[in-house]
Amino acid sequence: MPTIPQRMLGATGLRGSALGYGGAPIGFAASGKPADFIALLHQALDAGITFFDTAPDYRQSEGLLGEALQGHRQRVVLATKCGRVQHRRDGGWVAEEDWSAAGVQQQIETSMRHLRTDYLDLVQLHSPPRWVLEDGTALYGLQQAQTAGKVRHIGVSADGDDAWYALEMGVFATLQVSYSILQQEAGAKLIPTAAARGMGIIVKQPVANGIADLKERPGHPDWTWKWDVAQRIDWTALGAAKSRQGLALRWVLSNPLVGTAIVGTANPQHLAANIVWATEPLLDVTHFKQIEDAYYAARQQIAEEQSL
Ligand SMILES: NC(=O)c1ccc[n+]([C@@H]2O[C@H](COP(=O)([O-])OP(=O)(O)OC[C@H]3O[C@@H](n4cnc5c(N)ncnc54)[C@H](OP(=O)(O)O)[C@@H]3O)[C@@H](O)[C@H]2O)c1
Repeated sequence: MPTIPQRMLGATGLRGSALGYGGAPIGFAASGKPADFIALLHQALDAGITFFDTAPDYRQSEGLLGEALQGHRQRVVLATKCGRVQHRRDGGWVAEEDWSAAGVQQQIETSMRHLRTDYLDLVQLHSPPRWVLEDGTALYGLQQAQTAGKVRHIGVSADGDDAWYALEMGVFATLQVSYSILQQEAGAKLIPTAAARGMGIIVKQPVANGIADLKERPGHPDWTWKWDVAQRIDWTALGAAKSRQGLALRWVLSNPLVGTAIVGTANPQHLAANIVWATEPLLDVTHFKQIEDAYYAARQQIAEEQSL
């Protein structure tokens, strides 16, 4: 049976599955029993997924992962984040930001407790505002935790100008960045530059949140423009007659600079499908480029329509 390929994460020395697991959906799921999510995480482990991404901001996600990964710690790469946290309060969830050095160190302690481990392979600044990067206090907190042996590597999750700024700081071992068939810009310069500097590339939103399959235009501004792009792509001509999601995942994985693509799912059928796609042959260079061309043609078409 084909297995999910394992890849090196830049120069970190960490090696994890090319198809990683994104822990946001299980954290935010409005329904579903904890036991079902634990079973889902075991399904991922059994299939050879060894890279898991989570965050204190994803509600119960760290706790679920901690429970599911008991006894498997040595064979997984555990990545979490800091700076943004959600706490239980009065029966609901409250979101807070704390970028102080002490706050970051406290968050790391809590993450280790939730994840039931005494070290974290990677802790990433969670979409830090620019002032956080400039100020350096959160980074100092992370570095202190690294010196204390609680954190093996320090990374950042960021897009656009903030990602470039973080890259130029030269202190982050990994970059978590949005990159998908419906949002390809990071593939042009950012990812190649970061990879050339030895940073591990973790792709977030690799299947563009399933937007390509939505029948109706979504209201969220981050999603609307991607849906508009999806409407102007000839999916069948690009080889997605059976599944747009499958093509989207295989396209991201076919970029050799990608260390891991962390698809989020709370659905065992979707996870099973993702696992199958991640074991299929990569796209050849011509096919990969054809999809790039189709994306930029769709963006151009939209720009022209808007200028009329
Ligand atoms: N600021 C940040 O640092 C940041 C921001 C966003 C994401 N992330 C990380 O990146 C991970 C991935 O991002 P994401 O979860 O936003 O986006 P994503 O992985 O592109 O898409 C996830 C969505 O796609 C659906 N999906 C997954 N597999 C599918 C399949 N085979 N068929 C149909 N639908 C499928 C999931 O729904 P079902 O649950 O129904 O399968 C989920 O709603 C997150 O989990 C998180 O770890 C980080």
